[in-house]
Amino acid sequence: MSDAASRVVETLRPLLGDRLATSEAVRAHHSRDMSRLPARMPDAVVFPRTEEEVQAIVQACAREGVPIVAFGAGSSMEGHTIPIRGGISVDTREMNAIVEVRPEDFLAVVQPGVTRKQLNEHLRDTGMMFSVDPGADASLGGMASTRGSGTTAVRYGTMRENVMALRVVLADGTVVHTGSRAKKSSTGYDLTHLFVGAEGTLGIITELTMRLHPIPETVSSAVCAFETVKDAVEAVIATVQYGIPVARVEFMDEVAVAATNNYSKLDLKVAPTLFFEFHGTPAWVAEQSEIAEAVTREYGGQDFRWSTDPEERARLWQARHDSYFATKAIKPGYDLYTGDICVPISRLAESILASREDIDASPLTGQIIGHVGDGNFHTAYLIDPDDPEHLAEADRLAERAIERALAVGGTASGEHGVGTEKIKHMRKEHGDAVDVMKRIKAALDPDGLMNPGKMGHAG
Ligand code: LAC
Ligand code: ZN
Repeated sequence: MSDAASRVVETLRPLLGDRLATSEAVRAHHSRDMSRLPARMPDAVVFPRTEEEVQAIVQACAREGVPIVAFGAGSSMEGHTIPIRGGISVDTREMNAIVEVRPEDFLAVVQPGVTRKQLNEHLRDTGMMFSVDPGADASLGGMASTRGSGTTAVRYGTMRENVMALRVVLADGTVVHTGSRAKKSSTGYDLTHLFVGAEGTLGIITELTMRLHPIPETVSSAVCAFETVKDAVEAVIATVQYGIPVARVEFMDEVAVAATNNYSKLDLKVAPTLFFEFHGTPAWVAEQSEIAEAVTREYGGQDFRWSTDPEERARLWQARHDSYFATKAIKPGYDLYTGDICVPISRLAESILASREDIDASPLTGQIIGHVGDGNFHTAYLIDPDDPEHLAEADRLAERAIERALAVGGTASGEHGVGTEKIKHMRKEHGDAVDVMKRIKAALDPDGLMNPGKMGHAG
């Protein structure tokens, strides 16, 4: 441990007691995220409970010039929480209080360590739900920081649409609040949305005001198989362009369906598949479902399997959320190299087909799944961690997919974020706006201590 980090630890120990850890095991847990990216140990891990404690931690680090990396559930996909320059990992798991729920205003105020499932569990009797659902039971602070989403963004939006207000500890220890409880506001720079997606590089979120949605009266889901990837994706485009307010529409290619059957013990037909879900009143759901079924039949959609049974639906969506693990299980010991491009909906079919053709022409095993109603899909390549040629090939395929996405006005990441790996694409996507991001970073964190070496700092 550096002398500076030791001094931070000495300063904080009286305040945090055993909520400051330097053991190998705890540091190892905070040395990585869910991605395949190389681990790096923090010097110490702290578990604050209050905003004041976060403030004290940040002030101690600022005094000594020690890096600070916020850590939620550790389920990020691009190395966001890896302390690549060491320093202090600030684990928010003990900041897990649900501060206030106001169903009548469609909002809940939470600490950043509250997870999405915890919030929904708490909301159960209020008739409200929190909609954003990445695969993992991620923390809301982490989800806000990565501007994450999941399967329901097509209807209810991503974290961008669902964070109304924040409290943030800045790099110098100042606490600010951003946003309001009003549904709209036209005052001031939109700082809430500066911190949403900042990946902990501008400050540490200590409280979030989240938007809630009424639990729909009726929910109906359907699984539908297609002859070809093209048919499936074109059916989605037609459904979305028709204006049907689908609550979820997910795509899985054959490789993904086979892996999911295996891992989650389902018996889906092994074919390019769409999972639909519709929310609303019984009549409204019936009408949406009928139109969607008719539209998808035009593209050869077969074997529509409808379900309004909550248990069956829960099993299906859990299987979809476990797709990452299902794919990993195809080749035990291999790493999963994931992509996350997002394109305008009209360009989705060509983007997915080109990525599928790239995989077919490559020695790597790979699959494509996607939140296709948003134009967002994940390529996943299985790579042997001991074979550098595998990594090089996955890099090449991912690069091609990103180039194609950017060429049609898309983005290098729809929901996973920048982390360490996507930095190299930032300038291609954002041009000189990257310099504006760097000026914002320099203004808010002049010593470069908040999640250093990541967005706004490198690239
Ligand atoms: C998913 C994660 C990988 O969609 O984003 O399963
Ligand atoms: Zn996803």
